[in-house]
Amino acid sequence: MRNPVLEIHDLAKTFRLHVQGGIEIPVFDGIDLALHPGECLALVGASGAGKSTLMRSIYANYHANGGRILVQHRGTVVDMVGAEPRTILDIRRRTMGYVSQFLRVVPRVATEEIVAEPLRMTGVEAAAATDRARALLARLAIPERLWSLAPATFSGGEQQRVNIARGFIAGYPILLLDEPTASLDAANRRIVIELILEAKARGTAVIGIFHDREVRDAIADRLFDLKPGELAA
Ligand SMILES: Nc1ncnc2c1ncn2[C@@H]1O[C@H](COP(=O)(O)OP(=O)(O)OP(=O)(O)O)[C@@H](O)[C@H]1O
Ligand SMILES: [Mg+2]
Repeated sequence: MRNPVLEIHDLAKTFRLHVQGGIEIPVFDGIDLALHPGECLALVGASGAGKSTLMRSIYANYHANGGRILVQHRGTVVDMVGAEPRTILDIRRRTMGYVSQFLRVVPRVATEEIVAEPLRMTGVEAAAATDRARALLARLAIPERLWSLAPATFSGGEQQRVNIARGFIAGYPILLLDEPTASLDAANRRIVIELILEAKARGTAVIGIFHDREVRDAIADRLFDLKPGELAA
């Protein structure tokens, strides 16, 4: 088997609420996992178990308190815990994508440009990136009349599909998906399942939270069960 693209050792996260008397909220401790190219790991566990916190820690949105998050990046291995901010930005540009549950809407930027941006950031020329964005938007059944508009006024499901298009366009080796199908109808869910399966077939490693059983059964190779507070003894 090829080397893992992502390896987590003994990862710990505790929130400290400085404005509330320094109260500590231990979320997890001792997390170990490895992810290989083309694999999909589904995070499961009760609400509040720490699934989103684990994803945000992997993306270095949250700073882990202990452990290592080793990522294969441009032929080297980088530890996201303690990496330089510019290294983290480069990893987010080249290696690891993150589809959050909600689109962060940038006012006045056209949908097709929002979707094309991650591909442009990898060095693809603007017109080619926009063409690719349009193809993805069409595939995700976003009506063509909306492509030149900012997505602020789009429906929840439309915004979620724009977010998915943005997450998939650059073909990152690692993809983090936080409930990518939560607001979608059955037909659009099928399209997203196809996109994920195609990405896996190209070698993308996926970690996701999929509450929908149909989605999870279709794409996950393994489950990773997070138990609230239990690990953080
Ligand atoms: N920024 C934060 N500051 C303080 N506590 C937080 C923060 N983010 C999450 N928590 C706490 O960490 C715990 C795990 O939250 P998290 O959002 O990771 O759960 P989850 O498994 O994703 O739940 P859900 O299925 O409801 O999305 C919760 O107890 C939550 O209150
Ligand atoms: Mg969550």
